[in-house]
Amino acid sequence: MANIIANHSNNLTGSINIAGDKSISHRSIILGALSIGETTVEGLLESQDILATMSAIRAFGAEIEKKTDDKWHIHGLGVGGLDEPDRVLELGNSGTGVRLLLGVAASNPITAFFSGDESLSRRPMARVLNPLEMMGANFVARSGDLLPLVCKGPQTLKPIEYTLPVASAQVKSAILLAGLNAPGKTIIREPSPTRDHTERMLKQFGANIIVEANDKFEKTITLKGETELMGQNIVVPGDPSSASFPLVAAILTQGSRIKIKNVGINPLRFGLFEILNEMGAKTELVKKYDGVGEPIADIKVETSELKGVTVPASIAPRMIDEYPILAVAAAFASGKTTMLGLQELRVKESDRLSAMADGLKSCGVKVEESSDSLTVHGTGGEIEGGALIRTELDHRIAMSFLIMGLATRNPITIDNGATIDTSFPDFFEIMKSLGANLSLSDKTKE
Ligand code: S3P
Repeated sequence: MANIIANHSNNLTGSINIAGDKSISHRSIILGALSIGETTVEGLLESQDILATMSAIRAFGAEIEKKTDDKWHIHGLGVGGLDEPDRVLELGNSGTGVRLLLGVAASNPITAFFSGDESLSRRPMARVLNPLEMMGANFVARSGDLLPLVCKGPQTLKPIEYTLPVASAQVKSAILLAGLNAPGKTIIREPSPTRDHTERMLKQFGANIIVEANDKFEKTITLKGETELMGQNIVVPGDPSSASFPLVAAILTQGSRIKIKNVGINPLRFGLFEILNEMGAKTELVKKYDGVGEPIADIKVETSELKGVTVPASIAPRMIDEYPILAVAAAFASGKTTMLGLQELRVKESDRLSAMADGLKSCGVKVEESSDSLTVHGTGGEIEGGALIRTELDHRIAMSFLIMGLATRNPITIDNGATIDTSFPDFFEIMKSLGANLSLSDKTKE
């Protein structure tokens, strides 16, 4: 459990490639396993969360290996072709892994046991279990619908019509993945659209899926089940959520100018970019192109003076993972930033709303926290820092405070650097290559 220290840094420069997109990596392995024939995946994120999904997929009987062409090759089993795993599926820290795989397991007449780490075992599963039960699956879970749990899929799943009660791409995806093996139409209504990687990728794999949006941006997704998927060649773009850390680091440190290459710019993931620009960030999207099913660009960014803004609840689904790093940026802005509609942050890898409020306060920043909002009183630049941050098994809390420490007067230490491996294993090396002064603490080295 390495402690990492972030020391004041200036002049971040250089051009970097960012780790592959976590959401797209999970989906490419899962859809590859549900297809006929071979799927290849280039640029797959090789982080702990993805390795956990990969291991579960192997337990369901699919073959997946990295070949000398540096691509991952998956030999699919076809929709409804999963074997019953002969061991407990251990999903570690990965909410996406467990929730998507519950949809997959529920759609096969098999019994599968799921467990996770301390953080995942605290996170709500009812949001996925409820619609899957309506489809005919059975679950026995710990009190409160928590992991560990066991899933028993029926002989034949029933398609459902379902309006998502929470804005969650994981819930939407679990239902769609189950619907692949249900006879008839599975219809999902999404009042506030979340990331659409599953829909995009399902189209690419040949699923019978139609997405309609009305003028209020509400979406209806219709999937006709029992259509075979065909193996595809997937190229995973860089993860915009991982890119947000060097992006904000360059904005907050003096004399910085960097380029982050091949980042996914799917509009349903890119809310942070819009908000940072509104705050005054000097950014530029260059070399935009359409990747395999997803838009991609290079991002140029330099040191910028930020001003506080109000971040409306309506944008939350498009930047749900970026609030920790936005709160850090807001702390250095002039004026106050109020972020609304944050109730979902309470059930992420940690209670991110409290983790951010407590961490910022311990660094000398004034904040106000309500049940679903956070107000950060920006200092206009000078922040004491000097705190030890408890990361609570939350990679984004860990990385956000390390970025903060690059711009505070005194170093910031995080208590568990290992948690970063869940989504961004080369964070430390990439940030150091830009000139960030990050080090392992002496206590860790002893
Ligand atoms: C994800 C969806 C989001 C996000 C998570 C990845 C996905 O979770 O926070 O990091 O890949 O579908 P919710 O669906 O719970 O909002």
